[in-house]
Amino acid sequence: MFLNQMHVPSLIEKKRDGGDLSADEISYIIANFTRGEIPDYQVSALAMAIFFRGMTDAETWHLTKAMLESGHRFTYPPDSPPKVDKHSTGAIGGKTSLVLAPLLACDELWVPMISGRGLDITGGTLDKLECIPGFDVNLDRARALKQLKRIGVFMIGQTAEICPADKKLYALRDVTGTVPSRALIVASIMSKKLAESLDRLVLNVRFGSGAFMKERREAELLGDAMLRVGEAMSLQISYLLTPMNEPLGRTVGNALELAEAIDVLRGAGPPDVVNLVLDLAIRVANAPRAQLQKWLQDGTAWQKFVATVEAQDGDASALERMTQVHRAPVIREIKAERSGRIAKMDAQRIGRASLLLGGGRQTANDAIDFAVGISDLKKIGEAVESNEVLMRVHARAEKSCERALLMLKEAVAIE
Ligand code: URA
Repeated sequence: MFLNQMHVPSLIEKKRDGGDLSADEISYIIANFTRGEIPDYQVSALAMAIFFRGMTDAETWHLTKAMLESGHRFTYPPDSPPKVDKHSTGAIGGKTSLVLAPLLACDELWVPMISGRGLDITGGTLDKLECIPGFDVNLDRARALKQLKRIGVFMIGQTAEICPADKKLYALRDVTGTVPSRALIVASIMSKKLAESLDRLVLNVRFGSGAFMKERREAELLGDAMLRVGEAMSLQISYLLTPMNEPLGRTVGNALELAEAIDVLRGAGPPDVVNLVLDLAIRVANAPRAQLQKWLQDGTAWQKFVATVEAQDGDASALERMTQVHRAPVIREIKAERSGRIAKMDAQRIGRASLLLGGGRQTANDAIDFAVGISDLKKIGEAVESNEVLMRVHARAEKSCERALLMLKEAVAIE
């Protein structure tokens, strides 16, 4: 494919020194990295250079395209329903995808959802789904398409045939401090969404202490960059900007978040999660908000989720006892030292505490501890009495619990 071998260290140096990489150079790196012919350490160094130097729109587009072309795109029968999806730029306590995918499938839409694992301090849909015993996130295209035809939804990860470049690069970025780069986020998200061959896409772009983009303006630039890529591919795409200064809902941690998503699918759950799900869903759904809300309340969305779990070999009988299936041996409370209102519930510290408890990875091969995390979180603006529980910490061991408690006490302010 390439007439000449390229000298990878020179390409890293070029980006390090502020140069622009050509379409051929980007394709060369991504194609050979995917085949295992460029080692992880060189691509990690390149990712760090991109983090510091950024990429032009043209480079970002070529990176997205190269990552998309590292695998196959889904193709559908000509008379199939509209294909829709949602993706978030990363959240603490983010569990909307788990609810949105089955909910949108109730609307006679097809939802071919390709998600990622936890990234840095943010949680990932795949890790949460894997809390369900047996759940398979690695369906091949034929099986995924069959499931789409039968129940209108699948929830999978990047695989050897779909976005394999993102699968590898995502895992490297997670543990090398290179996540919050606009170009790398655009290419990661949009390569997956373009591989789904969608008609409509809604993005949830986050800003604030727990987001990769700390400032609203940076988040807008990220959203706009994804719109440009989507529109170039004739995708109907929009984004919703939301703050991420406190966790979404009242839980952080894989099994705890899955249990909370199940509450929402069963017509309950915290209002901020329910409202965000509906705000995002109406941007791509045919049905109006009231109908979507009804499907959450009358068990329709729940039944669709159960059908998805069964179709992907998960044990649906475990769903309603998720916090028993994955129960941390050490559970401690943090209590209010005085009465007042919650003024701060810092998402970044809470996300980092969950990561250190074992809910995320510190090296690429780490296993995730599904049981650990934080539950019963108070929300900003809530009134609390002195000695009332502000949150519960779920840990594998006393030592990790103590460290998390120190960090989490700093996460809260009462005024
Ligand atoms: N989600 C992704 O899929 N990739 C990113 O880089 C960030 C969020």
